[in-house]
Amino acid sequence: MQQHNRESMFRLIKECGEIIKNPNRNDINIQEKAGPANFVTSYDLLVQNKLRDGLQLLFPKAKFIGEEGDQETYTEKGEYFIVDPIDGTTNFIKDYQMSCISVAYVVDGDVDFAVIYNPYLDELFWANRGEGAYCNDKKIHVSKHDLSNGIVLFGTSPYDMDLAKKSFEMAYEYFCQALDIRRSGSAALDLCAIAAGRAELYFELILSPWDYAAGMLIVEEAGGIVTTLDGEKPVFNKRCSILARNKKI
Ligand code: IPD
Ligand code: CA
Ligand code: CA
Repeated sequence: MQQHNRESMFRLIKECGEIIKNPNRNDINIQEKAGPANFVTSYDLLVQNKLRDGLQLLFPKAKFIGEEGDQETYTEKGEYFIVDPIDGTTNFIKDYQMSCISVAYVVDGDVDFAVIYNPYLDELFWANRGEGAYCNDKKIHVSKHDLSNGIVLFGTSPYDMDLAKKSFEMAYEYFCQALDIRRSGSAALDLCAIAAGRAELYFELILSPWDYAAGMLIVEEAGGIVTTLDGEKPVFNKRCSILARNKKI
C-alpha cells in the first residue's frame, strides 16, 4: 500500500472514529437485525456509507463488502475491502466505549493491508503485509507468555445461541489453565490485544469475515497465529471460528 493511500485511509477512518465517539444519542435509531441482541444503528450505516464512498474514491477498482446491507459476492480474485463499520455495536449502544472500525484490504484472497481504530483510546492498529504490525507509530508484538501466565479472551458468538454452552465450557477450561479470562464485546479489538501482547489467546466459535479479516493480518504481522479452531486458514467467503494466539501456545 502506497504511503499517500495509507495516510488518506488513516484520515478517513479517524474521521469515522470521531463520528462514533460523539454520537447524537437521540438519533441512533436502534433496530433489531436477525434475532435478539443483533442490532444495527443509524451510526453503523452512516459510518459504513462514509467508508464506502471514501475508499471507492481512493481505490476505484476495489469491491466493497461491509457488514450492513446487501453484499458483493466474494471471490479469491481481485481487490476487496472487507469492513465492519462498528465492531462492538452493543457496546456502542450502551456507551461502554469498547468499539472500533475494522478495515481489511484484500488482494487475490489475502489481506494486504489492515486497519483497526479504537476512537476512545485513539489507538490505530495497522499492518502492511511483510512490514510488521503497529499501534499508532509503535511496532507491536505478541507476548512471549504461555497459557499459565496468560490472559484468555473469548467471544460468546451472541447471535448463535446454540453455541453458548460450548463457548462457556471452553472458557471454563481455559480459565482453569490461565491467569484469567476476559470478554470485551469486540472481536477486532480482541485480536488487536493479542497482537499487542496484552493477552495471550483469543477464541470465538463463529465470526463473520468483517470481524476478523483485518485483525488476522495484524496478529500475524505481530508474530502470532490465526486459524479456525480446526487449525484451518480462515476464509472470507463464509463464517468460521477463530483461534488467535502467540507461538508459545
Ligand atoms: C460482534 C462483536 C462481538 C462478537 C460477535 C461479533 P458486532 O460484532 O465482535 O465481540 O462476540 O461475534 O458479531 O455485531 O458488534 O459488529
Ligand atoms: Ca463485528
Ligand atoms: Ca458491526
